[in-house]
Amino acid sequence: MSLKNAVIDSLLNHRSVRRFKDEPIEPEVLEMLLKSGLRAASAGNLQSYSLIVVDDREKKEELSRACGGHQDFIADAAVNIAAVVDQFRFKKWVELNKGHFHADYAITLFIGFWDAIIALHNIVVAAESIGLGTCYVGNFLSVDIQSLFGTPDYVAPAGLVSIGYPDEEPELRPRLPLEAVVHRNSYRVYSDEEIRSLYRVMDDRWKSFSEEGRKRFVESGVLNVAQYVTLMHYTEEFIRSESEKLLQNIKKAKFKL
Ligand SMILES: Cc1cc2nc3c(=O)[nH]c(=O)nc-3n(C[C@H](O)[C@H](O)[C@H](O)COP(=O)(O)O)c2cc1C
Repeated sequence: MSLKNAVIDSLLNHRSVRRFKDEPIEPEVLEMLLKSGLRAASAGNLQSYSLIVVDDREKKEELSRACGGHQDFIADAAVNIAAVVDQFRFKKWVELNKGHFHADYAITLFIGFWDAIIALHNIVVAAESIGLGTCYVGNFLSVDIQSLFGTPDYVAPAGLVSIGYPDEEPELRPRLPLEAVVHRNSYRVYSDEEIRSLYRVMDDRWKSFSEEGRKRFVESGVLNVAQYVTLMHYTEEFIRSESEKLLQNIKKAKFKL
């Protein structure tokens, strides 16, 4: 058995791309990407998701603003694909057939997230395998998709990816070593020494910041990468406000939590 093929090569070479050429994606390419998404496994083969393709210039700008307005690559990408949990379509089918709709519980919401993200990641893998660049956008979870896309009840945001022809070739970004992430048969709780050793690759990112950047961080009391991540990048205020908006989205979509 060969442990090397085009799929594995593509996966092992993944890097997020945030600069795109001003070039559209050909319709047959987009169709292939979407078909790759729909071929993904889904719970009960019910495909509890929808994919919203955003390629209109104005809509891309609106989407970029809705995602916080600080990520220009969303508007610059040839296409953005928003994956949403969709129990609305299922509800209509069930009710037309005199079945009973009860897919508005937490479990069906979370299963819908699986379905949506697995389909979206199939699209990412297919896109990268043919040389397209991709970048996920986490802020999408807090976007008011009812206002932005006119989604009905029982539809909630799951994931967003921007896709286009790359205009940059970023370096491979570091990953934790296998031993940091993989457990065998039961969870092995880490000692402090292990954490220090396993996170060395992340702690070393400090050196990759510019001298000027590091100086600025130190002046604001930020002395290492963990402090940068939690006190400057993903601040508690940001996490709390994004969470509140996400929960609002779920409630507005009438899911029972
Ligand atoms: C769930 C998720 C949300 C993400 N959100 C963003 C985002 O909002 N903006 C962004 O520039 N990158 C985003 N990314 C990309 C990550 O920053 C990126 O995957 C990570 O830094 C590792 O870099 P790499 O993908 O190039 O290896 C996201 C990735 C994931 C999986």
